[in-house]
Amino acid sequence: MTSAGQICIRLETESDVPAIEEVISAAFINAEHTDQNEQFIVHGLREANHLSISLVAEDEVTHTIVGHAAISPINISAGCENWYGLGPVSVLPQYQKNGVGSLLIERALANLRSRHAAGCVVLGNPKYYARFGFKAVPSLELPGVPPEYFMALTWLKSTPTGIVSYHKAFEASA
Ligand SMILES: CC(C)(COP(=O)(O)OP(=O)(O)OC[C@H]1O[C@@H](n2cnc3c(N)ncnc32)[C@H](O)[C@@H]1OP(=O)(O)O)[C@@H](O)C(=O)NCCC(=O)NCCS
Repeated sequence: MTSAGQICIRLETESDVPAIEEVISAAFINAEHTDQNEQFIVHGLREANHLSISLVAEDEVTHTIVGHAAISPINISAGCENWYGLGPVSVLPQYQKNGVGSLLIERALANLRSRHAAGCVVLGNPKYYARFGFKAVPSLELPGVPPEYFMALTWLKSTPTGIVSYHKAFEASA
């Protein structure tokens, strides 16, 4: 157990990459609705130069990486620009429920806002993501996914309509 007061959120550096991959695979090992390919997805996004934001949570006492959040650009069929997808988000099991995930997500969203992003989507549990302002948006569809689990947060006056697609790195596997 730790307290989020000991956690520093910062951008990844090259030397963080092996630890990030370990954190992602450890976080998802007992998670629901996963093929446990998330570390390969993040690797593929980085290789494709599509990892727009890659944040790490570092325990300032142990100097270990305990969490990670990825943001990558998405496509909307209507052609809207400047939209992003949040995820995967990963926190080491022993650090979960201490606010680390919230710190990562809030910082990632603040970073997007400062880049004048139009909006961000996320696929996940509405009970968790609603607290950051994400909500189900009927006009945006991710095929094959129950609509209540696909949410968006927009900084525009209106939300676009269209089919969302993620980068092909999201099809990555071991
Ligand atoms: C989801 C995750 C990133 C959250 O990180 P965290 O540091 O535990 O989150 P926080 O401490 O900020 O928030 C904890 C809260 O989120 C809730 N929560 C965490 N995961 C949740 C989930 N999948 N569904 C619903 N609620 C969830 C907790 O119950 C807790 O609720 P409370 O504040 O009402 O007590 C982390 O649990 C994790 O790595 N999970 C495995 C990987 C995963 O499922 N990632 C998300 C999909 S990309």
